[in-house]
Amino acid sequence: MSDTRISEEAEIKPVDAAPQPVYLKDYQPPAFRVTHVELKFDLVPAATRVTAVLHLERHPDGAPGQPLVLDGERLSLKRIAIDGQELGESEYRVDDASLTIPDAPDRLRLETEVEIDPASNTALEGLYLSNGMFCTQCEAQGFRRITFYPDRPDVMATFSTTVIGDSASLPVLLSNGNPVERGELPYGRHFVTWEDPHPKPSYLFALVAGKLEKVEDRFTTMSGREVTLQLWVEPANLEKTDHAMRSLKAAMEWDETTYGREYDLDLFMIVAVDDFNMGAMENKGLNIFNSAAVLTHPQTATDAAFQRVEGVVAHEYFHNWSGNRVTCRDWFQLSLKEGFTVFRDQSFSADMNSAPVKRIEDVSFLRTAQFAEDAGPTAHPVQPDHYIEISNFYTLTIYEKGAEIVRMLRNLLGWETFRKGSDLYFERFDGQAVTIEDFAGCMAEVSGLDLDQFMRWYSQAGTPEIDAHGEYDYARAEYHLTLRQRTPATPGQPDKLPLHIPVRVGLVGTKSGEDLTLTLDGEALGKEGVLHLREEEQTFVFTDVAEAPVPSLLRGFSAPVKLRFPYGREDLAFLLTHDSDGFNRWDAGQRLAMLALDDLIAAHRNGVEKVMDARVVEAFRGLLNEPADDKAVLAEMLTLPSEAYIAEQQPVVDVDAIHAAREFVRQSLATVLRDDFMALYRANRSEAPYAPSAEQIASRRLKNVALAYLMSIEDEEAIELARQQFEADHNMTDVRAALTLLVHSSRSAVADPLLRAFGKKWAHDPLVMDQWFSLQVTRPQADALDRVKYLMEHPAFSLKNPNRVRALIGAFAGQNRVNFHRLDGEGYRLLADVVIALNTLNPEIAARIITPLTRWQRYDETRQSLMKAELERIRAEELSPNVYEVVEKALA
Ligand code: ARG
Ligand code: ZN
Repeated sequence: MSDTRISEEAEIKPVDAAPQPVYLKDYQPPAFRVTHVELKFDLVPAATRVTAVLHLERHPDGAPGQPLVLDGERLSLKRIAIDGQELGESEYRVDDASLTIPDAPDRLRLETEVEIDPASNTALEGLYLSNGMFCTQCEAQGFRRITFYPDRPDVMATFSTTVIGDSASLPVLLSNGNPVERGELPYGRHFVTWEDPHPKPSYLFALVAGKLEKVEDRFTTMSGREVTLQLWVEPANLEKTDHAMRSLKAAMEWDETTYGREYDLDLFMIVAVDDFNMGAMENKGLNIFNSAAVLTHPQTATDAAFQRVEGVVAHEYFHNWSGNRVTCRDWFQLSLKEGFTVFRDQSFSADMNSAPVKRIEDVSFLRTAQFAEDAGPTAHPVQPDHYIEISNFYTLTIYEKGAEIVRMLRNLLGWETFRKGSDLYFERFDGQAVTIEDFAGCMAEVSGLDLDQFMRWYSQAGTPEIDAHGEYDYARAEYHLTLRQRTPATPGQPDKLPLHIPVRVGLVGTKSGEDLTLTLDGEALGKEGVLHLREEEQTFVFTDVAEAPVPSLLRGFSAPVKLRFPYGREDLAFLLTHDSDGFNRWDAGQRLAMLALDDLIAAHRNGVEKVMDARVVEAFRGLLNEPADDKAVLAEMLTLPSEAYIAEQQPVVDVDAIHAAREFVRQSLATVLRDDFMALYRANRSEAPYAPSAEQIASRRLKNVALAYLMSIEDEEAIELARQQFEADHNMTDVRAALTLLVHSSRSAVADPLLRAFGKKWAHDPLVMDQWFSLQVTRPQADALDRVKYLMEHPAFSLKNPNRVRALIGAFAGQNRVNFHRLDGEGYRLLADVVIALNTLNPEIAARIITPLTRWQRYDETRQSLMKAELERIRAEELSPNVYEVVEKALA
């Protein structure tokens, strides 16, 4: 019996069939290049025909005599010919991943015809159907599911694409570039031919066909060219396009004024689709967006959604230069385009909104989510050296840490020199597929800086930790600051070398409350300076320090590190009021709250009575009573560190103690400062028509932060105010905030009817239903898991739609920590069940949604074994390479 079982398991996953990694060190130039492609799509849902004519020639750098190998998956080959001659069976080979022609001539015209099945494509990679509309997602390796092709970013070709479809059901036929011909065909069909004059890799190919309508606008570029801008949506969504169009024009102008980059086609199109794995995709001239990242309306989208749309529209647009004109040589270089483009979109959003708040948001996100990734089993360098499934590498490390590295370069060089480096990069490598080293090389060349050590940021995984110590020498009027750096071991990288870390510092005089003038090694630095930490340990001696200072370290979060300094609570309260660096003022408040939270977490674990730290109360009282010069920053200052961030600081995460401690602080503050919060709430109400302006967003945020404190103690007046705010139905930000607070409270008699009314009213709008799902499954009450199960049966839910999965399952597992980590293991079991179902439906989403389970090392033994048991249960399935790679790492 047991023997049979072993052999059966062996059959499910034979050792030699385990997916194999690809290595950066094995990079070889392609054997053939493609100069031009002609594609023809005959669109039929379950049987689309794709004819491809590839103009191929041997690559000058390729080794001679190599066979022609084209990538291709899930393609049914119908015809193959070289230079018009059909190939015989012996002249080519096809397996499940490729087509090989052993004796290809040096120059050829290869014609293939394949059949594909978009209707059954639930992975949403390649050509698929979303609400009856055809669309594509080719990055990173989806094009090989459309036709046989050298599907790698260093093969760039011009594309000419003819799309044929049914005139009635597919009136709109789009692809990259410009439409050059269109016409009617027999049997109620029609066609459009598109030509893209810019050579591009296959991952930037796009096609869309469906019943779509457009809004159109124009943009005149800096050299006076007229560009037509089109936003294509399903007819019902036409009223949700204003903000994206406005954001697009703002982004186009910003890229001209800030980076000198102009758009290069006559037409720029954005299409909104409902089923999409990520946020959006920068296909040349035809960006395809997850509808959640492009559609907004004051009644349906929150301020956060408006800001996300602005950021994503800009991000994809900016890729036209940082990604499309200059692209990646191979996928190990992914951060070349993503890190740089995230840095660019962050800067854009900072310019459009509150810059300090944008920085606070980005750093909070990095410090919770990316730091956790960097400390977990899937940690990898920003330039990875191997992967099994590239889709698993669209990570916070590649994107957000990558952006921090570019930001450090900008800070090291100064903006003007950095801009010169950027100009050189775009000019030198225009039309090429290049590496991260090429980018950094331009920065080194224009600045004359030696970036050799700095490059370790790209090759070493893990978050560096800096231990800082300071001493003031009264007699000498010197301040000695010692910084010691260490990067913890990560999988495959046991030993780390010291990094070049820019640490921006100020010394704030304890008497004056002002930044002291800094002198370091006889050099006057002004009111702040950047220390270059290169050694494992370095001491910096500041001279002529007239009074005892409190150091303000890592200003603006000048490097993505964890910096520890033995600040006392007095020091932090002092920095909270006196630090001239807005970011560090906020961070001092976070550190102060963390000290109090640490004590309360310990008290909770030891069953000791919790006592609120009076300094935190006084700091909050001060914030609430000083006139706010920046409401947006004030709202951030009044927000406690998230449970996820607190968890990051704990050696062993105690989810219940963290939740209890944080609730205790919220309730204590609300109790003592009740009238101040109430006054703040009232002062920030407004009847003005909704606008996603920085001022309005800040007021709403402040008002809803105040309401959240008041609701934490279930203040009767606050409950009534929340109910009124919901009923007033002024905008989704306020409605959602009020409804969330009520649903998260114990007052179900008030909340339930409102929740039902909301669900009914918006049943037709999936993006609003996503919010309805999320706000219910994040409630702290013990019934949250039952709600998840119940809502998974709701007609508006579907495992096939990634937005639904994220809104329901992702929100529960990622944001409802107390319930996901239930001690009966039911939260873990539910997530594992979903992962197993998605493993066949949509492996990319399965491999992402599993993340919370992979962090088992961080919890107590009971939870560890429960989580591992679920990972083992997943491992016993027949796994996609995506899930296989993540599970193997998690259990390694
Ligand atoms: N390049 C896109 C962006 O950064 C992301 C596309 C990722 N696609 C994927 N299937 N992983 O906006
Ligand atoms: Zn991107």
